[in-house]
Amino acid sequence: MFTNLVTQMAQSHANNPLPTPQQKHAYVQDMFDAIAPRYDLLNSVLSMRLHHAWRDATVKALALTNGSSALDICTGTGDLAFALSGACGPAGVVDASDFSEGMLSIARTKITPRGGAPVTFQQADAQKLPYAGNTYDAVTVAFGMRNVADITAGITEMVRVAKPGGRVAILEFNQPTKAWFRVLYRFYSFHILPVIGGLISGRKSAYAYLPASVDAWPDRETLTAHLQTAGCKSVSVTDFLFGAVALHIGVKR
Ligand SMILES: C[S@@+](CC[C@H](N)C(=O)[O-])C[C@H]1O[C@@H](n2cnc3c(N)ncnc32)[C@H](O)[C@@H]1O
Repeated sequence: MFTNLVTQMAQSHANNPLPTPQQKHAYVQDMFDAIAPRYDLLNSVLSMRLHHAWRDATVKALALTNGSSALDICTGTGDLAFALSGACGPAGVVDASDFSEGMLSIARTKITPRGGAPVTFQQADAQKLPYAGNTYDAVTVAFGMRNVADITAGITEMVRVAKPGGRVAILEFNQPTKAWFRVLYRFYSFHILPVIGGLISGRKSAYAYLPASVDAWPDRETLTAHLQTAGCKSVSVTDFLFGAVALHIGVKR
C-alpha cells in the first residue's frame, strides 16, 4: 500500500505539469483569468476555509494601526487587501495589484469593510510595480509569489516599495515539517486536489500545476535568504498547518 502510494507520487512527478520559465508568465496569467469566477469557492473548499485564518494571522503580525499604508501584490480576488483595509483604518491607504484582469474584476465587486481604508486595485506585473519606492508600512503577497516567473525580481520590488522599517510579508505554501503529515498532505495535493479543483474549475491542469509549483518553491531558509538579499533584516517564519503554509516577514533595512 505504502509502496503503491510512493509509486503514484513518483508518476505524478514524471508528468511534470510546470510550464518552462519562458512560458510561465503567459501560462499563469491565462490560468488565473480562466479560473477567476470559481477561485473563491475553490479556495474555501480546498483549504476547508483555513485560508481566512492564515490571512488574518498575516494582518495581525503586521501590527498596522489607523493611518497605516499597505500594498498587497498578486492580490487576486482581493481578500488579503480587504483584511489589510480593516487594519489600516479609515485614515489609512491600501493599494492592491495583480496582472489578471479576470481576478481583479471579481475583487472590484467586493465591498470595503466598514471603517476600513479605501482599497485601490490596479493591473500590474509584480516584477515591475508601478508604485514609488519607500511608500508602504507593509507590503504583502499571499499564495502569489510562487506563481511569479522571476521571484528575485518580485521580492526586490516588494522591498523597494516598502518604507525603511516597513514590513514585507510572504504567505505561501511550503513543505510540511512533520514527516507523517507530509505523506498525507502530498497524497491530498497530488491526487485529490487536482480532481476536486478540476471538477469545480473545469481546468484540472491548474490544480495539477499547484502542487508541482509548491515543490519548486524555495524552502524556509532559502526564502529567508532571498528576503535578506533584497534588503530585509530580522526575518521571522511562522508555520501554519504543520508547515504546509509558512509566513515569512522581513523588516526593510
Ligand atoms: C493563487 S492566486 C492568490 C490570490 C490572492 N493573493 C489570495 O491569497 O487568494 C495568485 C495570484 O497571483 C497573480 N500573479 C501571478 N503572477 C503575477 C505577476 N507576475 N504579476 C502580478 N500578478 C501575478 C495571479 O494572477 C493570481 O491572481
